Amino acid sequence: MKVLNIGSLNIDKIYKVEHFVQAKETIKALDYDESSGGKGLNQSIALGKAGAEVYHAGSIGDDGGMLTGLLSAAGVNVDNIKNSRFPTGHAIIQVEDNGQNCIIICGGANDDVTREDIDKALSGFDKGDILLLQNEISNLDYAIEKGHEKGLTVMLNPSPISEGLKKCRLDLVDCFILNEVEGEALTGVSSEDPDGVLDALKKTFPQAAFVLTLGEKGAVYAKGDAKTTHGIFKVKAVDTTAAGDTFCGYFIAGLTKGWDSEKLLKYASAASAIAVSREGAAPSVPTLKEVEEFLESR
Ligand code: RIB
Repeated sequence: MKVLNIGSLNIDKIYKVEHFVQAKETIKALDYDESSGGKGLNQSIALGKAGAEVYHAGSIGDDGGMLTGLLSAAGVNVDNIKNSRFPTGHAIIQVEDNGQNCIIICGGANDDVTREDIDKALSGFDKGDILLLQNEISNLDYAIEKGHEKGLTVMLNPSPISEGLKKCRLDLVDCFILNEVEGEALTGVSSEDPDGVLDALKKTFPQAAFVLTLGEKGAVYAKGDAKTTHGIFKVKAVDTTAAGDTFCGYFIAGLTKGWDSEKLLKYASAASAIAVSREGAAPSVPTLKEVEEFLESR
């Protein structure tokens, strides 16, 4: 089972701050770093490091060569990453001392993923393969419809939530991977009530399975009538950026290996705990060996 991820590729500009900047305020960063990111890229790196057969399709500018280099080094096929005339997408990320972040993304070349690019990428995939998507590229609605039409299992991380999602046939999505805040945005049910969010999601999208991450409260995998839960592995939070992407990549990699629900959540939770304990987005994603060592040590 192959995974095609049509997803964003960003250069992350990371500012360590005492607190997130407020309206009318100017603050001085404590530190600055630039690294690779984008929800799409981070998830592909996690899939690759977890040992899945993964193909990344997307779009970068002349300044994005290091992103394809990083993907290749993680074992990800990059044949369908095109060179756009626009600059590579970027993200401005503030990280507080407690590891929490806030992020602004600027689409750049990610907004230049065309229908033709999507058709070309999909041409190498068939029924039974997985199509992974996030909400950081153009023509997401088309990708969902075409992926479904070809019989691929469509897995969507509907992040970031935006008006654009309303254009998408979410009734064609086979599995949503989302956090409690995104769950609230899709259902209107408070994120303080995860069971309520899950029930509302199931009612709205009866065709789909759900992987709902709940921060400190762990994660839930619900498919049909079955529901599996898993707690978090406690670590000192350094930077939560890409923790969700790491979870997503490891979870899907486990699916391709036929792991049961318990093992899927255990490995995804461990991988994301390691990512939280490290700085940066893509650079924080652990290898499978690191995840196994972490699990043995617990
Ligand atoms: O999920 C984290 C990612 O969100 C960052 O790497 C940033 O690029 C944005 O896409």
